[in-house]
Amino acid sequence: MKFDNKTALVTGSAQGIGFAIAEKLASEGALVVIADIAEEAAKAACEKLKSSGSKSDYVSMDVSDFAQVAEKVKAVIEKHGGVDILVNNAGITRDGLILRMSEKDWDMVLDINLKSVFNCSKAVARSMMRTGGVIVNVASIIGQMGNAGQANYAASKGGIIALTKTLAKEFASRGVRANAVAPGFISTAMTDKLTDDVKGKMLEAIPLGRLGEPADVANLVSFLCSDESAYITGQVVRIDGGMVM
Ligand code: NAI
Repeated sequence: MKFDNKTALVTGSAQGIGFAIAEKLASEGALVVIADIAEEAAKAACEKLKSSGSKSDYVSMDVSDFAQVAEKVKAVIEKHGGVDILVNNAGITRDGLILRMSEKDWDMVLDINLKSVFNCSKAVARSMMRTGGVIVNVASIIGQMGNAGQANYAASKGGIIALTKTLAKEFASRGVRANAVAPGFISTAMTDKLTDDVKGKMLEAIPLGRLGEPADVANLVSFLCSDESAYITGQVVRIDGGMVM
C-alpha cells in the first residue's frame, strides 16, 4: 500500500476533516497518530481506526503550546522511529467584525491555526530531514480571499500559505516537500454552527452545487502525501467545488 511503513501525525484529527484524513492515510497503510487537544475523542478516534484493522496511536496536545508540542512530538518520534508525514489540520474559528473582535479571540485563532504549524513543523523537522518526508497544511480559501467577520481566521490561513511556501523552500534540498490545501465550504462541526441563511448563500456560490465532504479533502491530502505528487512542493491546492476560480 501507498503508506506502508510510514508514520503520519495528523493534528486536530479526533473529528471532522482531520479524522477523515487520518482514516484515509490509515486505510492506505500508514500508522496514524491522532494528535488532538480533546483527549477522550482522540482516544476514541484511534480505537475506531484500530477496530477497522489499521495501525494507530494518539497523543493529547495543544498545538498552540510550543514547549508541549516539542515534548510530545519528541516522544512520538522516539516511540515510532520518526514522523514521515505531518498534516497540520487543527484549527478553530472565533468570528466577529474587526470593530468587535477582542484581542483574546485574535490571539487564540492565530496561535491555534498558525503558530501551531510552526510548532509542529519545527518539532518534526530534524527527524524528517534525515529520511525525507511530507508536510501538508490545511489552509482555507478565506486565506486567499479574505472574509468580512473573519479577520483573525483569514490572517491565520493566509499566514499558513506563506509559511508553507517558506517550509517548501527551506526543506526541499533535504527531501521534504510542503504543500497546502485550501478547502472551501466543508460539512463539519465547524460549518454546522453557521446559520441556514449563511449556508444557503454559500451553497449558491458553489458551482458543483453541494458542500464538500471531509473525505473530498482527505483524498487530496492523501495524494499530496504520496509519491504520486513527488514533483509538487510549495503549492496551494483549492478544493472548493469551484467557488474560487
Ligand atoms: P472541527 O472543529 O470539526 O475539528 C477541529 C479539530 O481540531 C477538533 O478535533 C479539535 O479538538 C481540534 N483542536 C482544536 N483546537 C486544538 C488545539 N489547540 N490543539 C489540538 N487540537 C485542537 O473542524 P474542521 O471543520 O474539521 O476543520 C479542520 C481544519 O480545516 C481547520 O484547520 C479548518 O480551519 C479547516 N477548514 C475547514 C473548512 C470547513 O468548511 N469545515 C473550510 C476550510 C478550512
